[in-house]
Amino acid sequence: MSEKLHGVETIDPEYQKLNQMTLAGWLDYHQREVVFDKVSWMGIPTLKNVMDLWVYQEILFTLQPDLVIEMGSFKGGSALYLAQLLDQFGHGELISVDLDHSQFMAKHARITTLTGSTQDRAVISQLKELAAGKSVMIIHDADHSQKMVLADLITYADLVTKDSYFIVEDGVVDLFAKDTLLGATMNGPGPLPAIREFLTKDKRFVIDRSCERYLLTYNPCGYLKKIA
Ligand SMILES: C[S@@+](CC[C@H](N)C(=O)[O-])C[C@H]1O[C@@H](n2cnc3c(N)ncnc32)[C@H](O)[C@@H]1O
Repeated sequence: MSEKLHGVETIDPEYQKLNQMTLAGWLDYHQREVVFDKVSWMGIPTLKNVMDLWVYQEILFTLQPDLVIEMGSFKGGSALYLAQLLDQFGHGELISVDLDHSQFMAKHARITTLTGSTQDRAVISQLKELAAGKSVMIIHDADHSQKMVLADLITYADLVTKDSYFIVEDGVVDLFAKDTLLGATMNGPGPLPAIREFLTKDKRFVIDRSCERYLLTYNPCGYLKKIA
């Protein structure tokens, strides 16, 4: 005999079980089983919740910035994704910063890599120079510790142009207790307290919660829109 779930006849117990999953359960599952080795863009590993990538597409289409700065390249899946979106608009370039680009696989005319820490003086001055006079959006996916996220927010906030975004990724780790998989991802506090502290100092930015409407995000409170 089939059972009813939400008033709908269903015969598959596996889907009945999945339909009971909470958002927290999904995030735990995604972190445990998906994000590190089962997400790719055009064959290149991509450390993202794809629901967030869809939001990036929506933001980029609206803004069509001259420059996207990605902090944290890894193998280049997200860089290639962003560069190919820029192709669709026929406009924009991407600079992807990482401590090490030896694993970087993305090849695309719109991508420039910059090797070093986001807090290296040379990296800071090059990014400031490359961003001058351009409309700029930043995606932060580098060192997620509270201290480094706050330092990067403060260092680079001026580069983001009005109406554009400074997206701070992976604040999801701060929503989970330290004895859970996501909570244990970081030794100490991560992006969320950094965002909170930054917003008390820099009133030009607000959290755009509309970017979290799909609910399944790794970036809670991380879509920072520059309004002034
Ligand atoms: C989560 S991975 C980036 C994933 C990539 N954006 C993607 O979606 O596939 C984080 C990267 O940040 C880099 N990273 C860590 N600390 C950094 C720092 N201080 N400056 C620049 N890059 C850093 C690491 O080397 C690593 O490749």
